[in-house]
Amino acid sequence: MAVTIKSEREIDLMRKSCQILAKVHNELGQAIEPGMSTLDIDRLGEKLIRGYGCIPNFLHYNGYPASVCVSVNDEVVHGIPRADRILQEGDIVSLDAGLIYKGYHSDAARTYGVGKISQEAQQLIDETRNSFFEGIKKAKAGNHLHDISNAIDAYISKFGYGIVRDLVGHGIGTALHEDPQIPNFAQRRRGVKLQPGMTLAIEPMINMGRCDVEWLDDDWTVVTEDGSLSAHYENTILITDGEPEILTLL
Ligand code: MF3
Ligand code: CO
Repeated sequence: MAVTIKSEREIDLMRKSCQILAKVHNELGQAIEPGMSTLDIDRLGEKLIRGYGCIPNFLHYNGYPASVCVSVNDEVVHGIPRADRILQEGDIVSLDAGLIYKGYHSDAARTYGVGKISQEAQQLIDETRNSFFEGIKKAKAGNHLHDISNAIDAYISKFGYGIVRDLVGHGIGTALHEDPQIPNFAQRRRGVKLQPGMTLAIEPMINMGRCDVEWLDDDWTVVTEDGSLSAHYENTILITDGEPEILTLL
């Protein structure tokens, strides 16, 4: 599949989809507290998304059973919400959510500390977020896709963290996953040339320890092989003639 270039009309719909998702994420972030179950978070997320008249795009995607992926501590992504998984003070929790507005998808993820967390955990969260912003400094028309990947890798490597290689970012639009795939680690090839009108979900997944991950028996939950903590930060962005627009931030 080729990389799609969105028209002005489509860009407006993407903006609206993403702005609603940004609000959903803000409300979810404010709700996080010790004692909450991961299912409580999913229920709230689905209620918020539907309350805005939108559809949760993760729900039933390839059989995924929830609207929000809730991944705790060594869970990297795609944690399945459960009533008996209770957030404890000191945990870190990654929330990945998306929605469809008038046929247009948005996708974003945030990692939060639950109550007071260790300084090391906070640094992992902060540097994962910072790596996204380093990456999108290169998200300019005329640059190549892998300039973004290389910038994320160069930034994260300074900390000795592991960059997840088995999962990547992606184009997004009338489908949740469009071309191109967007690795968060250094590439030898340049990748596609960036053009105004491309909408991309850029999503570094960073482990405090090694990069290796494995899948749990539920066939969804991705965990670090060494049991180390993992953080995730994702926004849907628009390539423009100038600076990229981060569509999923308010
Ligand atoms: N944000 C993730 C992604 O970009 C979540 C999709 S997986 C799902 O691939 F199954 F939960 F939808
Ligand atoms: Co994504």
